[in-house]
Amino acid sequence: MKKLLVIGIGAGDPDYLTMQAVKALNQVDVFFLMDKGPAKDALLDLRRDICRRYIVDHPYRFVEACCPERQRGDPDYASTVAELNSAKQAIFERLIEEELSDGQCGGFLVWGDPSLYDSTLRILQAILDAGRCVFEFEVIPGITSIQALAARHKVPLNSIGGSLEITTGRRLAAGQVGDAASVVVMLDAEDAYRQVNDPDLQIYWGAYVGTAGEILVAGRLGDVADDIERTRKAARQANGWIMDTYLLRK
Ligand SMILES: C[S@@+](CC[C@H](N)C(=O)[O-])C[C@H]1O[C@@H](n2cnc3c(N)ncnc32)[C@H](O)[C@@H]1O
Repeated sequence: MKKLLVIGIGAGDPDYLTMQAVKALNQVDVFFLMDKGPAKDALLDLRRDICRRYIVDHPYRFVEACCPERQRGDPDYASTVAELNSAKQAIFERLIEEELSDGQCGGFLVWGDPSLYDSTLRILQAILDAGRCVFEFEVIPGITSIQALAARHKVPLNSIGGSLEITTGRRLAAGQVGDAASVVVMLDAEDAYRQVNDPDLQIYWGAYVGTAGEILVAGRLGDVADDIERTRKAARQANGWIMDTYLLRK
């Protein structure tokens, strides 16, 4: 039987890896690397660095696959994601079929934690459901960008007894949020915090959290929104890409 390990590697700092993740890395024969977009080189380097650092006396190799990208600008977001995932499914299936022998272990190094805004688990389940490929898989949790953000700002995510909503910049900009006292926003390409009408909210913003380039800004939304927008734009220009997350609190 082939085995796959889906390993959460944390959201930036190699020290975020758990002991369970380190043990898992040391079982993997073939790592599948699927990064894409302008951040690709930085994300691949981090994965290679993690393997160099934590794997001891166990031979392994990397197989890189060119990851398809979502078609931008299509108003039907859900169907472009579904298309992207079926293209990825075909690639994963080929990799498992051609690059892994029976009895070997393959590894997917997932940024942050595999349960949060990541399709690896959905895709592996879809491959098993299709029945063309047989394997077993395990999931090793990682430190999410949300936990990293809260730790770096030294704040709890929820108010006492309050709820926390985790959402996307797209949904925030469209006003599609509930009434949770705390909202975490991810995948924001367009400064969606600008669309929020309550200047008295507190915002805890972080970009490249856990990495050498980390930037943190916190304060009353009405006071710091301009600063965040400027900082964000400059960082994106300087690096060619940005990964940021923020917590909004009443
Ligand atoms: C596709 S999601 C992946 C989330 C990941 N699975 C996790 O557990 O954090 C990518 C989004 O995560 C957030 N993100 C990931 N790493 C981050 C970091 N180091 N600093 C700030 N935000 C980050 C950003 O909102 C980014 O757009």
